[in-house]
Amino acid sequence: MALALVTGGNRGIGLEACRQLAERGAQVIMGVRDLAKGQAAKASLGALAARVTVEQVAVDDAASVTGLAQRLGRAPGRLDVLINNAGVFDKRDAAASAVATEVVEHTFRTNVLGPMRMIQALLLLLRSSKSARIINLSSGMGALSDMAAGYAAYRMSKTALNALTATLASELATHRIAVNSMCPGWVKTDMGGPGATRSVGEGADTAVWLALEADQTLSGKFWRDRAEIPW
Ligand SMILES: NC(=O)c1ccc[n+]([C@@H]2O[C@H](COP(=O)([O-])OP(=O)(O)OC[C@H]3O[C@@H](n4cnc5c(N)ncnc54)[C@H](OP(=O)(O)O)[C@@H]3O)[C@@H](O)[C@H]2O)c1
Repeated sequence: MALALVTGGNRGIGLEACRQLAERGAQVIMGVRDLAKGQAAKASLGALAARVTVEQVAVDDAASVTGLAQRLGRAPGRLDVLINNAGVFDKRDAAASAVATEVVEHTFRTNVLGPMRMIQALLLLLRSSKSARIINLSSGMGALSDMAAGYAAYRMSKTALNALTATLASELATHRIAVNSMCPGWVKTDMGGPGATRSVGEGADTAVWLALEADQTLSGKFWRDRAEIPW
């Protein structure tokens, strides 16, 4: 049975990914910043909650990530799937010619350094898996092939996350650890807003597919709707 960790698992796409993973029989570690919110989110999963444990982790906090790695190192001592879902879209984000560096730094701390820190801290546990998978929640807004104006901090953070995916995929190719980026589309969540075109179910689908069903040798690619898309 696959053991999967999802960051930002208490709401939005992350909570739905936890639900879909549990529904497919995975054992799920729901990573949350706030344990009370995590317990409430777990309870919302009904009978599937039996397959979910809640762990505190703020991905922009080095001590919090190290603490999580130490707890998981003691038990269960391995990890098969890491879904780096936690992310922010700063309301102060703006065009590249005007955005405040503080906004870029805040966005990068969670969207880029967060996943990198999680991967570095959990690498030993992922190496203990027979076949491990890392999935980074990116966005088409970070695709260089489709770059546009506005929201520069968020766009650049997802471009950098894609670079992390690509370089890690080459680095880990000999370690049986697949690393992929995926775009969920425009999803109805607190971040996506009510005008978004997709449900959380559609948004989480490709991440869960990459986590459990896709050919594990597929690595270093960018996905949407279970199909490869240009970087
Ligand atoms: N929604 C979209 O249309 C869309 C489109 C493309 C890509 N994405 C990406 O998909 C992912 C999930 O998005 P979403 O729409 O589900 O977002 P959301 O509804 O805003 O949820 C964000 C989640 O990330 C957590 N989080 C934020 N900062 C964190 C930190 N420093 N440490 C740990 N957890 C943190 C939040 O925890 P709290 O509850 O504690 O705040 C929350 O659980 C993000 O990476 C986002 O960039 C979303």
